[in-house]
Parts: sequence; C-alpha cells; structure tokens
Amino acid sequence: MPNAKVAEPGAAAEAWAASEPADDARLARMRALLEQSSPKKAPRESYQDPMVLSSGYAMPRVGLGTAHLFEAQIAANLAAGARHLDCARIYGNEAAVGRAVRASGVPRCELFLTTKLWMDEARPERVAAALDDSLQQLQTSYVDLLLIHWPLKFRPGTVLARDGAVGDFSATWAAMEALAASGKARSLGVSNFDEAQLSRLLDDAKTIPPAVNQVEAHPKFPNQALVDFCLSRDVAVVAWGPLGGDPRRLGEDSMLWATAKMHAASLCRCALRWNLERGVAVIPKSTRPAHVADALAATAGPRLTADDRRLLADSRRRGSRRFPDVIGVWPATAFVGFRLVGWWLHVVFSALFAVVPGVDAVGFARARAARKERRYAAAVAARDAAADAKRD
Ligand SMILES: NC(=O)c1ccc[n+]([C@@H]2O[C@H](COP(=O)([O-])OP(=O)(O)OC[C@H]3O[C@@H](n4cnc5c(N)ncnc54)[C@H](OP(=O)(O)O)[C@@H]3O)[C@@H](O)[C@H]2O)c1
Repeated sequence: MPNAKVAEPGAAAEAWAASEPADDARLARMRALLEQSSPKKAPRESYQDPMVLSSGYAMPRVGLGTAHLFEAQIAANLAAGARHLDCARIYGNEAAVGRAVRASGVPRCELFLTTKLWMDEARPERVAAALDDSLQQLQTSYVDLLLIHWPLKFRPGTVLARDGAVGDFSATWAAMEALAASGKARSLGVSNFDEAQLSRLLDDAKTIPPAVNQVEAHPKFPNQALVDFCLSRDVAVVAWGPLGGDPRRLGEDSMLWATAKMHAASLCRCALRWNLERGVAVIPKSTRPAHVADALAATAGPRLTADDRRLLADSRRRGSRRFPDVIGVWPATAFVGFRLVGWWLHVVFSALFAVVPGVDAVGFARARAARKERRYAAAVAARDAAADAKRD
C-alpha cells in the first residue's frame, strides 16, 4: 500500500469539510491537510540549464570533445551550437581550438573552455607555465575549468617514469589553487580519479575543493559507484566517451536500440540523455555538425521512463572500461599483477630516461596534430578542386 500514508490526510480533509462550517482557521487547517495529501514532486531539473559547479560557475551540460579534431571541424561544431569545448594539452590541438573560437565570433563569456594538465606537468613549479602556454594557444585570458588529466605523475620530460606516489597531488593542487585565485582558471577539477584518490584530494585541498571529476561513463560502463560518490561530495561528474568511443559498440546493445526506437530518437541522443538524467554532464566528440546538433538536442529529450532505465540496467552486464587499468592507475582496484607491471615499467623507463634525453610529450602531440591538420587541409582542397573541375 505505497499510497496509504498520502491518502489518509486527503480523506480526513474531505470528511472534515463536509462536517464543519467554513471559517478562516478551518480553511487553513484544511489546506495544510490537503497539502500533505498531494506528495510534493521535486522540481524537475531542466537539462537545458547549465550545471552550477561548487565553484559557483555554470557549465553547459552537453560539451563537445575536441580530441583529434581539426580547426575546420571545431569551427563547424561551434557553428552548430557547441558552447562547451573539452580540450587537453596532450591533444596537441589547442591552437586549432583557439583559432576556431576566434574566427567563430562567439563572445568569450558564452563559451566554457576546459583544458587538462598532462602527467609530466604536475610538479607545482610547472603548473603555472603549462596553463600560461595553454592560454596563449587558446587565445584567451582564462579557462573555465582546469583539470589534472590522470591521477599519475611522470617525471618532467618522461613517460611512465613515475614521479612520487600515485594519487598524491597536494602540492600540484596548491599551485592550481593559486591559478584560480589569479583568475586564470575559474574552476578546478580532476579526471580519471577513483574514489580513494578523490577523497584524498578533497582532504588535501586548502581553499578550493575539486569541482569536477571527468571520468569514462556510458550505458555500457555506468561507473555508478564513483558517480554516486562524486555527487555526494558536491563534485560534478563529466562523462568522457559518453558514446563508448564508437556508437556502433553501444549499438551492439540491443536494449539501447529498443529505447531509441520507442522514443523515435537516435541511439546517441538516448545514451547522452541517460547520463544527463542521472546528473552527469557529457562531452561526446563528433566530426559532423548534424551529430553535434543531435547531441545538443539531448538536453530537450527524450525523457526516459523507468522501463527504459531497467532495460538499460539489464544490458549493462556486458560493460567494461575502454582502457583497462593494466598498469595500476587505480591501486585500490587494480590486480596485483597489473600493479607489478606498472612498477616494472617505472623501473625500466626511469633507467631509460637516465641515459636518453627527455621527451616533450605535449610538443610531440602538437607537432603530430599540426602534420595531420596540414594533410587534412590538403585533402579537402584537392576534393574541392576536383568538384570544381567536374562542375566546369
Ligand atoms: N579525460 C580523459 O581521460 C578522456 C579520455 C577520452 C576522451 N576524453 C574526452 O571525451 C571526448 C569524447 O570521447 P570519444 O571521442 O573518445 O568518444 P565518444 O564521444 O563516445 O564517441 C565518438 C564517436 O561517436 C560518434 N558520434 C558522436 N556524436 C554522434 C551522434 N550524434 N550520432 C552518431 N554518431 C555520433 C563520432 O562519429 P562522427 O565523427 O561521425 O560523428 C565518433 O566516432 C574526447 O574528444 C575528449 O575530449 C577524455
């Protein structure tokens, strides 16, 4: 009898109304009884409204990933309505984002730009220089959100040669807090932190707690325990790879197809909506403006039903991480064997970088992205020239 408690006061109010003459006091008591009889619904959240972070700044719930995108594609995303762009120093294309943003004419105050420190930039003395460099590339005076990309630190100029304990970011965070105080980063957060790592940072943070944890999350890998933990500590969750990296992979899940068919909406929109409805922001990536428009429309619907959620929960049993933790990034859950692999890699790469010159991971990524962008621009120009020739 789930409604019994709710029905009682309503019935009492009706009986009372029939038996007593009306006066103000009686009406007030009746109103109180009737109010109890209609269960208060929590105000429905509008997913079109931005999410307010613990920093007090607002973040659009649907952002667009920028990994491996070229300037023209980012420009097309902005033209399709994207206002929240997820960047990272290791994507190597912050300059392309900066040029696309500048050319779009979208006022800076309407944009939400995120960037992420790479793993060899976590020493406190490197943090400010890394952000200044990103600001220059992005052609802006501040980022809306600065994240630590992974809960691992590499020695400057190395890969896989660990720098201090996994998950110890207190000194890095203090340097980031100074950047927030200077106004160069409006909100601070982390990415890929597990519960233990995030708890530790929440304890270590002196003035500004992390506002965001960006983690993998999609219907096939809900990451629900971590999502619940973050939300319980007022840390907003942003789902990376919210389409599983490849919607065909999500499409192998017939339950998501069924949901999409029922709502006459695209599978991708249903997948994004599923995250939005559990309070998680999303950053899908797309090279096509039509897909971007479809993703942005997830804030408007479809509204999923309890049946949809049950079907999706059943289909989740086949879920797994996209990048399995084979080197012990999350010591609390990694197999001992994987932690040993991580330790051996650390030993081997530490020895290697003792004799070979360091690598500039971000510089390397930028050079590669620029090379690919040139090839892409040449291919587009050749295609356009061929089309013109055909028309003539
Ligand atoms: N913090 C981290 O460690 C981390 C790790 C990975 C990724 N990320 C961030 O998350 C972003 C997204 O992740 P992701 O690119 O790996 O995976 P994703 O967004 O889950 O999937 C991207 C794929 O979905 C397709 N797609 C997007 N929207 C679609 C739509 N509406 N309809 C049909 N297909 C659609 C895209 O193809 P089309 O191009 O054809 O649309 C693309 O192949 C990245 O760009 C990056 O910013 C962060």
